[in-house]
Amino acid sequence: MTMGAEIASGFQSIGIIGAGQMGSGIAQVCAAAGLRVYLNDVSDEKINSGIGRITKSLQKRRDAGKITDEQVDKLLSAIVSTPKLRAFEQCDLVIEAATEDEATKRKIFGGVYPFLNPTTVLATNTSSISITRLATATDRPQRFIGIHFMNPVPTMKLVEVIRGLATDQTTYDATAKFVAALGKLITTSEDYPGFIVNRVLIPMINEAVYALYEGVGSIQSIDDSLRLGANHPMGPLQLADFIGLDTCLSIMQVLHEGLADSKYRPCPLLVKHVEAGWLGVKTGRGFYDYASGAPVPLR
Ligand SMILES: NC(=O)c1ccc[n+]([C@@H]2O[C@H](COP(=O)([O-])OP(=O)(O)OC[C@H]3O[C@@H](n4cnc5c(N)ncnc54)[C@H](O)[C@@H]3O)[C@@H](O)[C@H]2O)c1
Repeated sequence: MTMGAEIASGFQSIGIIGAGQMGSGIAQVCAAAGLRVYLNDVSDEKINSGIGRITKSLQKRRDAGKITDEQVDKLLSAIVSTPKLRAFEQCDLVIEAATEDEATKRKIFGGVYPFLNPTTVLATNTSSISITRLATATDRPQRFIGIHFMNPVPTMKLVEVIRGLATDQTTYDATAKFVAALGKLITTSEDYPGFIVNRVLIPMINEAVYALYEGVGSIQSIDDSLRLGANHPMGPLQLADFIGLDTCLSIMQVLHEGLADSKYRPCPLLVKHVEAGWLGVKTGRGFYDYASGAPVPLR
């Protein structure tokens, strides 16, 4: 069998690096599609917290009558806690979903590729960092690709796929087949900062933070305006909390540096929130406080 044919025959076992909001969601949808999943993070504690998040999400689906107890157990047993990268030698596809920081991601790729089978496709879930540049931290730029899932992964239909300059057609075709097997829809973006979704979405969120910073409106007014006036399901500040303010800031920085246009400068208030560690839902506080469950605006 040729290398290309092997890739095209379909990914069966998937490695995931980073068990945060996105990595755990990707693990869940891969398990639901009948694939074997190997889940890695920096510590057992982080992996367990990712598996805890998946368990909660599956239990919610069970309580809604969408899946049975047996299915919950089956899906959880398909996800293997993988503290050592060496275990990825058995994977057909490895998806990096770690913190949105280029140095972190480059270090991960440098650490993992020596363990991979030569035919393994290596992918990143980055929201904005150049696929072409990240590919240079691997030994396989032709088999490196951006697979950008949306948050929350189990419910969002779209997966944006980004080819780097060197990504080959076989890798793209196998990725498209994988995305379809997960029951998701694909859009293809060229490799420019922020790709399509975040090139449009994150500057809008940044502008909403500017509106708050300049006193144009309160958190509630800004979010209500977009929800009720533009028919958005969630206001931009609440959405920012949901995405993670560190991720939003990092994407603005990538747009600002990559497109060299001052219209992409991150709002100082966004920077301040990240400096305070108020990162949104994942830390219990962002533009809203989530301590009591329901979001309470902070200003
Ligand atoms: N949050 C979103 O809405 C969203 C949407 C699409 C894509 N993304 C992208 O997905 C990626 C992850 O984002 P997230 O929201 O899940 O962040 P997160 O903070 O919830 O999770 C990141 C995880 O990466 C782990 N990590 C950091 N360094 C690591 C390393 N060296 N090895 C293994 N694991 C490591 C962290 O411990 C953490 O568990 C980012 O690239 C982000 O841009 C995020």
